[in-house]
Amino acid sequence: MAKFEKHIFVCMNQREAEHPRGSCDPTGAGELQRLFKTKLAQRGIPNAQVRANKCGCLDQCELGPTVVVYPEAVWYGHVTAADVDEIIERHIIGNRPVERLIIPDAILNTTHRK
Ligand code: FES
Repeated sequence: MAKFEKHIFVCMNQREAEHPRGSCDPTGAGELQRLFKTKLAQRGIPNAQVRANKCGCLDQCELGPTVVVYPEAVWYGHVTAADVDEIIERHIIGNRPVERLIIPDAILNTTHRK
């Protein structure tokens, strides 16, 4: 089986509303991951080529909703449904990450994430 060309991990972690770190999918509805899957399918991109997976907490909660795309290891923060088309068009298809959504290396995995 061929390797995936790209793998999109969409945090779907849900915490209680009062939690200080928040959560990427506070309703637990999984809308963002489903939207990636739907939009990839609409463009005819096979699931075996690019996969959009649900995942648990990626530990960048304060910057969520968080999405990471491999193999480039590009981390996106504050991703909304309105950003999905742009990520697919520019990054997944065009191989040009969406700069405005990238979590800078300087704050990725740090305590300075607000
Ligand atoms: S809840 Fe999504 S990164 Fe932690």
